[in-house]
Amino acid sequence: MKQRVFSGIQPSGVPTLGNYLGAIRNWVPLQDTHDAIYCVVDLHAITQPFDPKQLAAQTREMAAALIACGLDPERCVLFVQSHVHAHARLAWIFNCVARLGWLNRMTQFKDKAGKDREAASSGLYVYPNLMAADILAYHATLVPVGDDQKQHLELANDIAQKFNHDFGAEFFPAIEPLIQGVAARVMSLRDGTKKMSKSDASDQSRINLTDDADAVALKIRRARTDPEPLPESAAGLEGRAEARNLVGILAAVAGATPEAVLRDHGGKGFSEFKEVLAEALVAHLTPIQAEMKRLLGDPGAVDAALRLGAERARAVADPIMTEAERLVGF
Ligand code: ADP
Ligand code: NA
Repeated sequence: MKQRVFSGIQPSGVPTLGNYLGAIRNWVPLQDTHDAIYCVVDLHAITQPFDPKQLAAQTREMAAALIACGLDPERCVLFVQSHVHAHARLAWIFNCVARLGWLNRMTQFKDKAGKDREAASSGLYVYPNLMAADILAYHATLVPVGDDQKQHLELANDIAQKFNHDFGAEFFPAIEPLIQGVAARVMSLRDGTKKMSKSDASDQSRINLTDDADAVALKIRRARTDPEPLPESAAGLEGRAEARNLVGILAAVAGATPEAVLRDHGGKGFSEFKEVLAEALVAHLTPIQAEMKRLLGDPGAVDAALRLGAERARAVADPIMTEAERLVGF
C-alpha cells in the first residue's frame, strides 16, 4: 500500500514563490509515488482578516493555481477543507486535547498576530490544532511542507500521542514532515529575516505566481541586498541572508545547487545577477500563468473537480472521524 501524504494551502491570496518552491512544486511528483491528498484550507483562511465576498473566488483561484502547477485531480485527491466536515469536528476534539502551554510556544502565532496580539482571533491561536486535524483525519503519515511548518507538525504529533494515551487506543499514527530542497524557506524580498508570505502587508516583499514579467523584474531589482558582490562559494553566504535567499531561489528554479549557481555567478554584482534571476523566474512562471488563465476561463469545471475531490476525501475521513468520536465517548 502507498504511504499517504496530506498537505494544504490557504486561499488567502495568490500563491507566492515561497508557497511554490517550498511546498506546491514538491507535491507534484508525490501524486505518483504516494496516496496524495491536497486541500485548499479555507477554514484556516478565516483566522485572519478576509473578505467574505472574495473567499469563494480566491478558493477557486487557488485550486486553479494548484492544477496549473501540476496537480491532477485524477491522480490526487484535491478538495476544499470546508466541504469536508471532519476537519472542524476533529479540530474541536483536538482543542480539548492540546494544552495551552503547547500553543503558547508556537512562534508562527507571534509572527502572524503582529503587535496587537489581544486583537488576534482565537482561531488564529488554535490554528495548529486544526492543522493536526487536517492531517490526522486521513491518518496521513507524511506531510510535505515548507520549513516554517516544522513546529506545527511536532505539535500534531504531541496531540496524536496524547489522544492515543487519553483514549486508550493506538489510533492516530505518527506523522513525519517532508521538507525538501534548497528553497524550503524562501525569505521576504524586503527583509531577509522574515519568510515570504502571501499575507504580508507589502506586495513588494513577495513574488506572486501571477506577477507578470515587469512586476517580477521590478520586485527583484528592488529586492534588498548588501553592497558586496556574490561570493565564489556557498560558505561566503554565511551571515548574508538576502544574498543567500536570491541564490537559493535561482538554484531552486534552475534545479541546481547554490554551489553551482555561485560557480556560474560568483564575483558578479547584484544588479547583473538580479537580471539573470528575473529572467529565469519569468521563464518558469509564464507557462503556469497561461494554464491558470485557461482553467479560470471555465470555473464550472474547476468547481466540479473540487466537488469530486470532496467526495473522495469524505470517503477516507468520515470513518476515521466516527471512530475518533466513538473513542471520545460520543
Ligand atoms: P502563507 O504563509 O504564504 O499564507 P500557507 O500558510 O498557506 O502560506 O502555507 C502553504 C504552504 O507553503 C506550507 O506548506 C508552507 O510551509 C509553505 N510556505 C509558505 N511560505 C513559505 C516560504 N516563504 N518558503 C517556503 N515554504 C513556504
Ligand atoms: Na504558513
